[in-house]
Amino acid sequence: MEQKVILITGASSGIGMETALLFLKDGDVVYACARRLEQMESIRKAGGQLIHLDVTSEESMRQCVDFVLEREGHIDILVNNAGYGCCGSIEDIPMDEVKRQYEVNVFGLGRMIQLVLPSMRKQKYGKIINISSMGGRFTSPFAGWYHSTKYAVESISDALRMELKPWNIDVVLIEPGMIQTNWGVIASNNIRQYSGDSAYSDQADHAAVYYEKRYGVQGKLTNPQVIAKTIRRAALSRHPKTRYLVGKYAFSFVFLKAILGDKVYQRMCRMSMGV
Ligand SMILES: NC(=O)c1ccc[n+]([C@@H]2O[C@H](COP(=O)([O-])OP(=O)(O)OC[C@H]3O[C@@H](n4cnc5c(N)ncnc54)[C@H](OP(=O)(O)O)[C@@H]3O)[C@@H](O)[C@H]2O)c1
Repeated sequence: MEQKVILITGASSGIGMETALLFLKDGDVVYACARRLEQMESIRKAGGQLIHLDVTSEESMRQCVDFVLEREGHIDILVNNAGYGCCGSIEDIPMDEVKRQYEVNVFGLGRMIQLVLPSMRKQKYGKIINISSMGGRFTSPFAGWYHSTKYAVESISDALRMELKPWNIDVVLIEPGMIQTNWGVIASNNIRQYSGDSAYSDQADHAAVYYEKRYGVQGKLTNPQVIAKTIRRAALSRHPKTRYLVGKYAFSFVFLKAILGDKVYQRMCRMSMGV
């Protein structure tokens, strides 16, 4: 199989790390990017190239893409994976933190796309794989700002796919359900930090416990390797699907949202989270 050049953001843990390791097994050229390079020894040992990347910094993103293009001449696949859940009530999260959430989950993703596209258009080939979430298809309490970033990722990706048709560049959305990574710990810590001591504290405690119970027990949720395999499947497919909904609860939550009216869905959502 032909060797591909792949750039993966957020590769220091979870889905990004497993994706880097999987592509390396195939013998591809993998540039694994994140801020915590010290966490990425396993990727380096497997033959991956590590790049320090902060997706909130224009300079960092530009240097990262320039470096890969200078070394390889092209990038075949961009996996836009960096992201986190800035959770808490809509009222409590300070606007600076909301802006940071958008910088990482939306603007960083969008800017990386802008930086790789000129070379992809030139070679008339490429795949942009954006890691969205099942949470880009429905909303839950105490994660509203996070969901809004994933809704944004969904709509940016859908528009981009149509715009890039003339250049044979595919745009794919991966919509993971609940995956056993650090995501849940970061989300529940944020709920406690921003809303644990506010007018929402009772509800916030239940919401935090909801995530802690699921993400805190190993083996309850989907292994991130499953998402890595889905990303690889989309990357290798000549005709990838537009979106891949995959992982624990993903199909059932999206299905229920689609068939229930807003009021019934929201009552069910609040009851299941105990808020
Ligand atoms: N786990 C789930 O249940 C789940 C469900 C749906 C969607 N997702 C999505 O999947 C993606 C990967 O998350 P994960 O579950 O694998 O969580 P994770 O293990 O916490 O990984 C998140 C990655 O994002 C990187 N990151 C965060 N801020 C960054 C920044 N400013 N610049 C560059 N990289 C940054 C982190 O690297 P550094 O901190 O080292 O920079 C880390 O490698 C995210 O977009 C997340 O929203 C996860």
